[in-house]
Amino acid sequence: MSDSRQASGRDPGPGIPDPKITELIVAARAVRENARADFSHFKVGAAIETSDGTIVTGCNIENATYGLTMCAERVAVFKAVSEGAQKFRRIAVAADTDLLTPPCGACRQILWEFCGDVEIALVNLEGKTETLRLKDLFPRPFDASFL
Ligand code: THU
Repeated sequence: MSDSRQASGRDPGPGIPDPKITELIVAARAVRENARADFSHFKVGAAIETSDGTIVTGCNIENATYGLTMCAERVAVFKAVSEGAQKFRRIAVAADTDLLTPPCGACRQILWEFCGDVEIALVNLEGKTETLRLKDLFPRPFDASFL
């Protein structure tokens, strides 16, 4: 049994992907269309699954100052947190790249602090996917345990 299946509490059986992962990937690809990437033209979508199975989406939002850009992952996390979500199972990140796009450093920090060692499903528009854990992308995090 994989970690993701243990985390979700649903085990569809050997060789059968958890349908929630598919739902999350579909949601991440769909919300990517809402990206406001007028400056980079690099659209990203994210969809995060909370511990009760709710899916909350986010896209990247740029503005004329450039520096106030908000990534898709942080939009999704902050939307979910502001709705009261406290625990998360996994996040999907969708972008139009052959080499699958991982969360940036700032998003890794926020994901670590708000979601812990979540599963991260990277996906592109051709359906290529790869599943990682945050701990592998962000091996020695700074967090509140140091304060
Ligand atoms: N971006 C994201 O939204 N998520 C990522 O994982 C990588 C980068 C956005 C930020 C900016 O709007 C654009 O992609 C180019 O960096």
